[in-house]
Amino acid sequence: MENFIYNVPTKIAFGKGQIRMLPEFVKEYGKKVLLVYGGGSIKRTGIYGEAVKLLSENGIFYTELSGVEPNPQIATVRKGIEICKKEQIEVLVPIGGGSTIDCAKAIAVGVFYDGDAWDIVKNNELITDALPIVSVLTVAATGSEMDSSSVISNAAECDKAEINADILYPKCSILDPSYTFTVPAYQTAAGVADIMSHIFEYYFSGMDIPDIQKDMMDAVLKVCVHYGPIAVKEPDNEKARANLMWAASWAINGFIACGNFSSWPCHAMEYQLTNQYHVTHGHGMAIIDAAWMEHILSERTLADFTRYADAVFGITGKDPYETARTAIEKTKAVYEEMGLTLTLRSIGASDPGDIPKMAEKAVTEFGLDDAGEMSLTISDAAQIYESCY
Ligand code: NZQ
Ligand code: ZN
Repeated sequence: MENFIYNVPTKIAFGKGQIRMLPEFVKEYGKKVLLVYGGGSIKRTGIYGEAVKLLSENGIFYTELSGVEPNPQIATVRKGIEICKKEQIEVLVPIGGGSTIDCAKAIAVGVFYDGDAWDIVKNNELITDALPIVSVLTVAATGSEMDSSSVISNAAECDKAEINADILYPKCSILDPSYTFTVPAYQTAAGVADIMSHIFEYYFSGMDIPDIQKDMMDAVLKVCVHYGPIAVKEPDNEKARANLMWAASWAINGFIACGNFSSWPCHAMEYQLTNQYHVTHGHGMAIIDAAWMEHILSERTLADFTRYADAVFGITGKDPYETARTAIEKTKAVYEEMGLTLTLRSIGASDPGDIPKMAEKAVTEFGLDDAGEMSLTISDAAQIYESCY
């Protein structure tokens, strides 16, 4: 087993009504809060009302940054930093999905940097400190509620990049599955595909990873393929929503990365789809993952694929390649059952001439060609994009 350090410092309050923990969690870090939220879903669902009532009743001052976009923009991060500096904010409280939490994370580090926040996104070494974050999650998808990443877009530069730093783990996160009952079917499906993608990035490494991590990967994937289609059809199915919410956090909180390796090739390729076609992240992941799995199926990854087939779908057979391909087809069927299309054309791509540029940016900016046996060349990435056109 490879050496590793595992440290997830996020306190989780999981379950119905756990919003009541909000004042206590916030007060550990201060009494001046910036509430960060998106386009208004939290007002329609009543979560906003609950949160501000609790803050007010407990003598916590709050001001707001609303309008965080899906695929949050650096311009919104800049606005948040200004408010924090002006109001001397002590704690950030994002209420929403990954976009809102990621925006708060970028604000949290941007407050301590005198230059433009985009510098930090492109050069994480500029981070010196961060405001504490107490998040309230409303979509099961990215795992941002329990991880140390933030993904920010820059429309002006047609770019999307990550901040990764231990200091970004939220201090506390409130996970109430009933908050996700109102997530639309498409967003639910995209969220499930995103959870699966976080596992797939590690699943086919060909490494001898610890059994506990392997079993956890299977457990998360089984939750997704079973409860994903249920949650799409029955939005208020509490059991499905609860299992998916907890799976989302565990897919990416660092546990399965222990003793394992990934260069995150599929995410690097998906970010180019967001830049180019503004697709929802999880939908883009479903398209890329399906095509990438077909591309990387080889002697090196075969045992991982047959394990996946057996553990997640109960498929066994004499011909391991056929078993692996059947598992890939089953994976596609799960995406399609949830309503996700699997071609680039279906998300608005109309010019295959975009492919060379996307392939080059994904490979060179994310170092995909320097990932040992997992490496992808620009030509590999182009083939993957072409195969899902
Ligand atoms: O903006 P509002 O009005 O809140 O509506 C949102 C948004 O339109 C809506 N929504 C959220 N909760 C809802 C709801 N609608 C009804 N009821 C609710 N309870 O859902 C839409 C999507 O929200 P968003 O936050 O964008 O979704 P998601 O959680 O999938 O986040 C996607 C972003 O996270 C990044 C992605 O790249 C993308 O920018 N990622 C972040 C990661 C991380 N921090 O570790 C890892 C991921 O791989 C991913 O890259
Ligand atoms: Zn993702």
